Amino acid sequence: MKIKVNKSKVAIVMGSQSDYSTMRFCKKILKILQIKSESKIISAHRTPLRMYAFAKNAEKNNISVIIAGAGGSAHLPGMIASLTSIPVIGVPVESKKLKGLDSLLSIVQMPKGIPVATVAIGKDGAVNAGLLAASIIGITDLKIKKNLKLWRIKQSKSVKKKPR
Ligand code: RP5
Repeated sequence: MKIKVNKSKVAIVMGSQSDYSTMRFCKKILKILQIKSESKIISAHRTPLRMYAFAKNAEKNNISVIIAGAGGSAHLPGMIASLTSIPVIGVPVESKKLKGLDSLLSIVQMPKGIPVATVAIGKDGAVNAGLLAASIIGITDLKIKKNLKLWRIKQSKSVKKKPR
């Protein structure tokens, strides 16, 4: 008899197609670390029912960490976090008018009771969200923990000792 092993998976959700140019960096780092991911466009205000169904079914769908990217009045990560106890990492996407400061403050300033782990604005934040998800998954998945350690060693080695 074959035993089905349910491997952990990260859900990358974003409020709009326009967020993908930032969120793709998240997908990229997860792939490097050999973590399965699925990407979806879910808007808290344009598709609230899609958001609800996604958050309510996330546990059943074997999602270990949710990474939610949004710009402007970025309520998506907090709304999703309010519907599930799966850890949510929020990525503030750079907005046209306020350069993402609005997104950052919306995501980071969650009132007590429903936390959202918030990373930096834009591409750096998207990469760090993937790395943080790997750390969380690595608590129970030793293969992912090792992959993250090796990635960090490689990063350290890539830093030259002298400027050129
Ligand atoms: C938010 O509004 C999205 O997360 C996006 O960052 C922002 C702008 O969306 P579009 O007008 O580009 O669709 O919902």
